[in-house]
Amino acid sequence: MHIPELTVRQIRLASGLILFAYVSTHLTNHAAGIVSLQAAEALRRIFLATWRNPVSTFLLYGALLVHFALGLYAIYRRRTQRIPARELAQMTLGLAIPLLMLDHVKGTRVAFALYGQTDSYARVVWDLWRPAEGLRQVAMLGAVWTHGCLGLHFLLRYRAWYPRHRTTLLLVAIGLPALALFGFWSIGRELALLARDPVWFDRHMAPLFTLTPPERGALKAMESAFEWGYAGVLCALVGAIAIRSVVERAGRTLVSVRYPGGRTVVVPRGFSVLEASRTGRIPHTSVCGGRGRCSTCRIRILSAAGELPRPRTDEQRTLARIGAPENVRLACQLRPQADLAVVPLVELARAVGRAEGASEVSFGVEREVAVLFIDLRGWTGRSEGYLPFDLVYVLNRYFETVGTAVRRNGGIANQFIGDAVMAIFGQEADRRAACRQALSAALDISRGMARLNQGLERDGFKAFDFGIGIDAGPVVIGEFGYREVRTLSAAGNTVNTASRLQELTKEFHARLVLSATVGGYAGVDLTRIGGVERASVQVRGRTNALEVFIVREMEAIAAARSQARLEAAPMPAAVGDEAVALSR
Ligand code: FES
Repeated sequence: MHIPELTVRQIRLASGLILFAYVSTHLTNHAAGIVSLQAAEALRRIFLATWRNPVSTFLLYGALLVHFALGLYAIYRRRTQRIPARELAQMTLGLAIPLLMLDHVKGTRVAFALYGQTDSYARVVWDLWRPAEGLRQVAMLGAVWTHGCLGLHFLLRYRAWYPRHRTTLLLVAIGLPALALFGFWSIGRELALLARDPVWFDRHMAPLFTLTPPERGALKAMESAFEWGYAGVLCALVGAIAIRSVVERAGRTLVSVRYPGGRTVVVPRGFSVLEASRTGRIPHTSVCGGRGRCSTCRIRILSAAGELPRPRTDEQRTLARIGAPENVRLACQLRPQADLAVVPLVELARAVGRAEGASEVSFGVEREVAVLFIDLRGWTGRSEGYLPFDLVYVLNRYFETVGTAVRRNGGIANQFIGDAVMAIFGQEADRRAACRQALSAALDISRGMARLNQGLERDGFKAFDFGIGIDAGPVVIGEFGYREVRTLSAAGNTVNTASRLQELTKEFHARLVLSATVGGYAGVDLTRIGGVERASVQVRGRTNALEVFIVREMEAIAAARSQARLEAAPMPAAVGDEAVALSR
């Protein structure tokens, strides 16, 4: 039976999040031990009320079983032994967790459920207050927490908001277990001091240990049964993989994948083409690591000895998005049942000059940003009257004005294309701040251009006329270019829309056209500002009409700036003036 990859990922994520929530609240409870034993006990009552009721118990143990089963399923589905180190660490920790946790669970929840022994902090901590036990607890906590944090990191690293919060998340990832251990140690020390008084010990601690020798024996027997059972499950997994491998290699279950240059890789049926490439050490780009989230592993099918499996939903969606022809497939998703010949279509990054020490964004990361486009009007005709050196001079003055306004508002003016500039806001800010920054930058650009035009006219040059378009949404930010000439830039529908909105400024005789999305995120009600008109427009490349604001007079944005407290943009006294001063 084939379970769609997306479904498996979603179920694994949901079960993992439940377990992570449980562990986080458990550690928070331990951390309260820093305050006092009583504080930890008080918080424990809330913790138990939350996690020991029938619904939570069902959810928690259901999530535990499902997460574990899907983990084993993921190992079974893996067709190549070449596992990246980070995935190997994640897998090994995951497999070690049941064994590391066994003693703790047996002494707390199981002993409570079967024999009614309290699992109060005083009893549990005192039970574990020995160096060997303490070390075992540290190992268990380290394994569980690292496994959870790694899982979340792999899951979230491409999310637009993740890089902005990475430092905070790292602090939590390190701080919470450290505080929990410190809380555990504080309680243990407090108990050790109190236990020096035999009367106190007999009155407060001794009654907590209620297990009889037969009950202890029964728990021990359960522990060992679990260990044997667990070993059996792992052996069954290894056995299943071995049997599958033997069966696949035994007869007509091998397929050969032929690559350009005549290289052929023979792999068992069920391998994806990307796995075949890895097995045969054939360079093959796969930016998202085979998750069907990019399209860089795409291949053209030259020939196939039989019918190829139809693309599943994930693959179909990606192929449709890139408008791929019939004979193009994703290598990470295609698991051929018969021999075939393919051509990887995306050149390996190294071959196009990926620099050593390439950054996280070298291959692109998703971000929610605001994109601003500015273009000069009628510039091509007017520039013909300029001497080439004058042209360089005035264009650089314009670029400087725009670049300064963008930078001062937190954006990056990253592309100067002819007389157009593209700027990105939100690499370091959330989308709300990004939209406020973009709007504020548009106003500063307009004011800077007014000053620049005054200076140019004074010096006998023609004034610039311009239009600005802004849109906000997801883009992929990456490095574009070749060898050392590489620029950070963005790609995606948001970029195209911003560019088209800029073009619309000509049609509307407006200074600025921005999408309603930008106004909404920026928190400004532009409909209530004079000089701004709302319209529904058809933008090339989009199926649905787009709601936009048309701004004919840029000073209307000044009102919006005070309304929404747009990012302060302390422009220099006069960007244009600065440029004039420099030029003299
Ligand atoms: S590697 Fe990204 S879709 Fe195949």
